[in-house]
Amino acid sequence: MNLQLVTIFILINYCLAVKDYLFKSCNQNGFCHRNRHYANQISLDSNFQSPYYIDFNQIKIDGDKLRGTVLKIGFDVKFPFEISVIENSFRFQLDEIRNPIEHFVNHNRYNETSKWAFNKDLSNDKADYKINDDQILMTYSDNHEVIINLNPIKFTFYYKNEEVLLINDKQFLLVEHQRSIENNKLLPQESSFNMFSDDFKDSKSDKLPLGPESIGLDFTLLGFNNLYGIPEHADSMLLKDTSGKEPYRFYNVDIFEYETDSRLPMYGSIPLLTAVKKDVSIGIFWVNSADSYIDIKKGKDSTIHWISENGILDFIIFIKDTPKEINQVYGKITGFTQLPLLSSLGYHQCRWNYNDIKDVLEVSAKFDEFEIPFDTIWLDIEYADNKKYLTWDPQNFGKPDEMLEVLERTGRNLVAIIDPHIKTGYFVSDAIISKNIGMKDNEDNTYRGHCWPGESIWIDTLNPKSQKFWDDVHKTFMISDNHKNLHLWNDMNEPSVFNGPETSAPKDNIHYGQWEHRSIHNVFGLTYHETTYNSMLSRLPEQRPFILTRSYFSGSQRTAAMWTGDNMSKWEYLKVSIPMILTSNIVGMPFAGADVGGFFGNPSKELLTRWYQAGIWYPFFRAHAHIDSRRREPYLIGEPYTSYIRDAIKLRYSLLPIFYTAFYQASISGSPILKPIFYDYYNSTNSNIFEIEDEFFLGDSGILVKPITDEEANEVEFVLPENEIFYQFTNGIIGDKINSSKFKVGINDIPMLLKGGSIIAKKERYRRSSKLMKHDPYTLIIALNIQGYANGQLYVDDGESIDSEFKMINFEFENGKLSVNSTGDFSLPIEIEKAIIVGANEVDPELGPVTIEDEKLVIKNPRVIIC
Ligand code: NOJ
Repeated sequence: MNLQLVTIFILINYCLAVKDYLFKSCNQNGFCHRNRHYANQISLDSNFQSPYYIDFNQIKIDGDKLRGTVLKIGFDVKFPFEISVIENSFRFQLDEIRNPIEHFVNHNRYNETSKWAFNKDLSNDKADYKINDDQILMTYSDNHEVIINLNPIKFTFYYKNEEVLLINDKQFLLVEHQRSIENNKLLPQESSFNMFSDDFKDSKSDKLPLGPESIGLDFTLLGFNNLYGIPEHADSMLLKDTSGKEPYRFYNVDIFEYETDSRLPMYGSIPLLTAVKKDVSIGIFWVNSADSYIDIKKGKDSTIHWISENGILDFIIFIKDTPKEINQVYGKITGFTQLPLLSSLGYHQCRWNYNDIKDVLEVSAKFDEFEIPFDTIWLDIEYADNKKYLTWDPQNFGKPDEMLEVLERTGRNLVAIIDPHIKTGYFVSDAIISKNIGMKDNEDNTYRGHCWPGESIWIDTLNPKSQKFWDDVHKTFMISDNHKNLHLWNDMNEPSVFNGPETSAPKDNIHYGQWEHRSIHNVFGLTYHETTYNSMLSRLPEQRPFILTRSYFSGSQRTAAMWTGDNMSKWEYLKVSIPMILTSNIVGMPFAGADVGGFFGNPSKELLTRWYQAGIWYPFFRAHAHIDSRRREPYLIGEPYTSYIRDAIKLRYSLLPIFYTAFYQASISGSPILKPIFYDYYNSTNSNIFEIEDEFFLGDSGILVKPITDEEANEVEFVLPENEIFYQFTNGIIGDKINSSKFKVGINDIPMLLKGGSIIAKKERYRRSSKLMKHDPYTLIIALNIQGYANGQLYVDDGESIDSEFKMINFEFENGKLSVNSTGDFSLPIEIEKAIIVGANEVDPELGPVTIEDEKLVIKNPRVIIC
């Protein structure tokens, strides 16, 4: 190869691969390097005795809380701590008494992550403590006990008298206390790597005004090998052992062209890890918004080493019987996912960019011409005047109100993007500067960096003063209150900074409260989309806002949907989207999707078709493409693929009542919309159940799905839980009880099964959008189990208002009879036009009459079809 060719080859590879040299590995990141080093040294020394201990003399019981101080042998430092019980779960918070410094930065450990992540008004629950010379015995809730060893510190958790969790058993506890470069005494096991400066090439200017401040701790889960959660990573659902490899990292970043099978950080982070075994599930919720890493050592028992760059040490332990109960308690603390607009569960058509109003309306009309339903069309950054968000480009989007009106006629919505980087030199950025509500640099001046519009500043949504300003500019931008069909997309809110270290803001930037960006980095995206949410509410207080966010944290589920960012038009990205979305569901952020078709590149017709067929299962179902990708609206693909895609989208629409019911359940209990098999079958003797990441249930409906994610696949094989019967349900058409879990599939097939014992309600008429389906009747599918029994639920409300009247309908089929009862009150008649019963001939060929116990439920002599 000549030199020129070699250069081209290198460049091509360079451009295709994720630019991982932009991101710090653990070894390059001072605090991670030091904590791993410490853990390694300790693991090599069996005589090591941790210097941290609880001072017996300072322990105080204050109502249901226990307070005390941790000391460190050989060092003059004090770490006050508090133990409490929140939502019947154990919480530990440890701070440090620190001296003021001569710098404008807040010198305390950041303790406000929970302020952003948690629901408001949480109260503490009861706990009892018995204190001995060397131990505290704590009991709380039913069946929970903790023995806290004072020296060395160690927590042993018992659930129903079984020992299930140890904390600091490995003695990895490290709290890097306040110190100066001149007076920096270390333990022999500690490393001093990058304590006061950062030698990573892009963050050399980090002033680290507070020096080293990291925290690290180990958790050993006894008898647990199945670990889940801690998104966002483009990786398997079941967490991997990271010994000798890169740990999982949490640092919300704009990871350009990310790779699959990777523990590199991505756009969001949810620091909840769930461990599941027979009859016990444990959640570890690490309440910290700083850069963090998680090392995992798996075995019969598994050890997690959790490390964060700074902040207080704050974690909550959930111990329950089932993973669903972990969702419930985590949701009570951080909020359940909002019940979304029903229309936001329809299909979203996006690309970067629709060129002008004419283009938008033509796309909308084309969907109708081809009889493909869709609910929402999206505008990416080019709609704004020169990327000055909160303005409309006067040439191409001069009359947005007219566009909204035309879309409204077919019940459709528009979503417009508004990013947190604000171009300098126009009224929005001028006001942010004059009101002093921008993010600051390390000299306390408004920070300037680069993003899509060129030089930009960032609104600091941690500043309470930002809210009113944001409300006002949104009211003007979103035209008049008459347009209820305009919603928003908050992108690039990690925040993405093109010329910043690791594509984000410098860690020594400053936010409201003089907190360093270092401390709040992972929660910044949440503060931004939550401020937008409040602005939307201030404009239309009765309507549920819809916001899509790219960056997220624990608590984001209350106000936004997320998607997995810039994937590629390749089969492996279609495949990984399923475990990624399942993981999001496991950690209580179920309103999740991935760009259908892949963001970068041009998918083959087969890949695009398969992606739509998988995408209809994403709770958030949107096609999106990069500005350089060819147009690929489904009607452009050509037959027979357009028809296959139409069929897939129509199937999604027919299942909207089931999605909506699942969302209602998620909004009150945190239960997943896409539910991994192990959720209901954690007691199965088939240990494979815990690994299945390409198959899932749709909520509690009993619909089991296995999307096709392999090129040229012509066969599918389900892994089925034991002791259940399943009916063939491919493409939503109910068939016979299956005898084999393996069957042939064509390119137009969407493999689905329906579990015996389920009743589901579908809507089968084609309409142009979900709003136009409002009055359509339902078809019930009643799939009986071996005892001839089935049940199911249907949630109905107006689909848009925050306090809508509603009806929750319970269907039950027993002894050959269907009975229907409901709670709530909803004035629109609910009509069931057809009921299909499968499996009945095995139990009771003489079906009894349908019993109606609800006057307002109109069942107009449904046609009953018995198969
Ligand atoms: C990055 C987002 O991930 C992508 O979806 C969007 O199209 C571009 N920003 C442009 O706004």
